[in-house]
Amino acid sequence: MTKPIFVNNKNKYGQYFTPQLIVDYMISLSNINKKSSILEPSSGECVFINTLEKNGYENITAYEIDKMLYQNTDFVINKSFVTTNINKKFNLIIGNPPYIRWKNLENELKEELENHTLWHKYFNSLCDYSYIFILKSIELLEKGGELIFITPEYWLNTKHSLSLRNYMVQNCYFEQITHFNETPIFEKATVSTIIFKYIKSKNKNYSKIKLSKHYANRKLTTEVMQNIQNKRNQKNTIYLEIDQFEEDKRWLLTSDKIKEELKVFENHCLIKNQIQTSLLDLRANKFHTIGDICDIGNGLVSGLDKAFQIHNIDNLNENEKKHILRVIKAKDLKAYSYENITNYIHLYNIKDEEEFKNNFPNFYNHFIEFKEKLDKRYKYNREIPYWEWVFLRNFKLFSKDEKRIFVPCKERISNKDYFRFALIESNLYPTQDVTALFKKENVKESIYYILALLNNKRVFDWLSNNGVVKGNIVEFSEKPISSIPFELLTGIIKKKY
Ligand SMILES: C[S@@+](CC[C@H](N)C(=O)[O-])C[C@H]1O[C@@H](n2cnc3c(N)ncnc32)[C@H](O)[C@@H]1O
Repeated sequence: MTKPIFVNNKNKYGQYFTPQLIVDYMISLSNINKKSSILEPSSGECVFINTLEKNGYENITAYEIDKMLYQNTDFVINKSFVTTNINKKFNLIIGNPPYIRWKNLENELKEELENHTLWHKYFNSLCDYSYIFILKSIELLEKGGELIFITPEYWLNTKHSLSLRNYMVQNCYFEQITHFNETPIFEKATVSTIIFKYIKSKNKNYSKIKLSKHYANRKLTTEVMQNIQNKRNQKNTIYLEIDQFEEDKRWLLTSDKIKEELKVFENHCLIKNQIQTSLLDLRANKFHTIGDICDIGNGLVSGLDKAFQIHNIDNLNENEKKHILRVIKAKDLKAYSYENITNYIHLYNIKDEEEFKNNFPNFYNHFIEFKEKLDKRYKYNREIPYWEWVFLRNFKLFSKDEKRIFVPCKERISNKDYFRFALIESNLYPTQDVTALFKKENVKESIYYILALLNNKRVFDWLSNNGVVKGNIVEFSEKPISSIPFELLTGIIKKKY
C-alpha cells in the first residue's frame, strides 16, 4: 500500500483514505443499476473504484491528482478534478473529497482556485477545498442523480459555507445522513464525520431526511455498520427523521422537536422592533445574547500551573501572604457552585532576582525546582522573569469587586446533560481552563437570574446544537458564550448597545 505524500509534514493533498467497511456502507446506500455512470472525483488508492468494480459496476470515471499513488488504470485519470473540463453527467458521484482549509492549501492548488469560475461565484479564501468538490459534483449529476460523500461535519454550520448550503437547498434534497460524531474513522484525523446521500432534483421533495447518529468513542466494526445499514437497534446508535434543510440557516443534526424548542427559546429572547440588516446574517431575527449582558474573559495564564500553586501558606511571611491569588480551577466547578480553592503565587513589579530572593524567600525556594521549566515557557514575545505569570489577560476585569460566573473552557457532554456555570465570590480568579462572566454595568438583571438561565436545559440544548462543538466537547470561549440567547425579564438594558 502506498503511503500518503507528506511534504514538510504536511498532507498536501488532504489524503485520508476511506476504510473498506465505510466504502461498503456508502455503496450500499446507492440505488443505481450496474450500467449507470459513476464518478469518483478524488480516488486516492481506488478503494471505492475497486469495490464498485468488484460489485459489477463498469461505467466508472475517476480523477486523482497524485500520480504517486497506486492507480486502477482502467478508470483513473491523473488530472485535477477541480480544473478538468468534464462534459459528461453521472448517475452516481461517490467518494471522500480532500478537505483542506485555504490557509493550508499548497500554492499549486490555490492557483487553480483563483481562476476558477465556480469557486469565485460561491466561495472565498475562508472556505474549504472540499466545497468545490461538493458543488462541482452536483453540477455534474444527472437529474435524479445521487451524490454520496463522506466529509467532516463542520460545513453544515459555518458561516462561510452558507453559499454552498444554499446552493444545495436550491438544487437537491437529502435522502439520508449518517453522523459519526467522535467515532474514530480515519487514522490521524480526529474530526466529526458525516456520510450524506443527496439527490439532484429541481422538484422540491418534502420527505424527511433519514438521520442515523452513531456516537461511540470506539472503532467501527462491520457488525455496527451493518446494523446501521439495516436500521437495527444497537447501543450508541439512534435513528431519526428530520425536516429537509432550509436556506440561510445552519443545518442542525437534531430532532425536529428539539429544533422547535430551540426556536421557542430564541423567540422568547427576540429584540423587539428590530430592523433586519443583512440577508447573510444567520441571526435573521436577532435576539438578545449573553454577550449583550455580560463581559466575558478567558482566565489568566501562568505558563506552568504546578510551579505557581502553593499548598501550604501557613509558613509564608506577611509580604508573601499578600501575593497569594485564590484561584478556582475548572475541575472544581459544579453547576451553581464550586468545591475547592487553589492558592497561586502571584508576583509582579519585582526589579531583579536579588529583590525576589530577599523579599520572598519561601517563594524563591519553592521556585528552585521549576526554574528551568519556567524559563522555557511560551512568553508571548516578551521578556518575563521566571516568577511572573506569562499572560495576565483580563486581570482588570477579574479584579472587579463583584460576584462573577465561572464555567470550564471546555466541557465533555458524552455522559452529561448539563453545563457547570458556577457563582463565584469577588476575590476569586480564573486560570486559563476557566472562562469568567461579569454582568455589564448597564444591566439591571440579577446575576442569580443570569446564572439560573445559563444552567437551564434550554441553554444546554441550544449550545450543544449551535455552539462550538468538536466531537462531544463543547467550547466555552468568549465567542460561543456571547452568542447564547438571553431572555430579558425586565427590559433592563439602560443604554443602547
Ligand atoms: C480524502 S482523500 C480520499 C481518497 C479516496 N477517495 C478514499 O476515499 O480513500 C482525497 C484524495 O483527493 C486527492 N486530490 C486532492 N486534490 C485533488 C484534485 N484537485 N483532483 C483530484 N484529486 C485530488 C488526494 O490526492 C487524495 O487522494
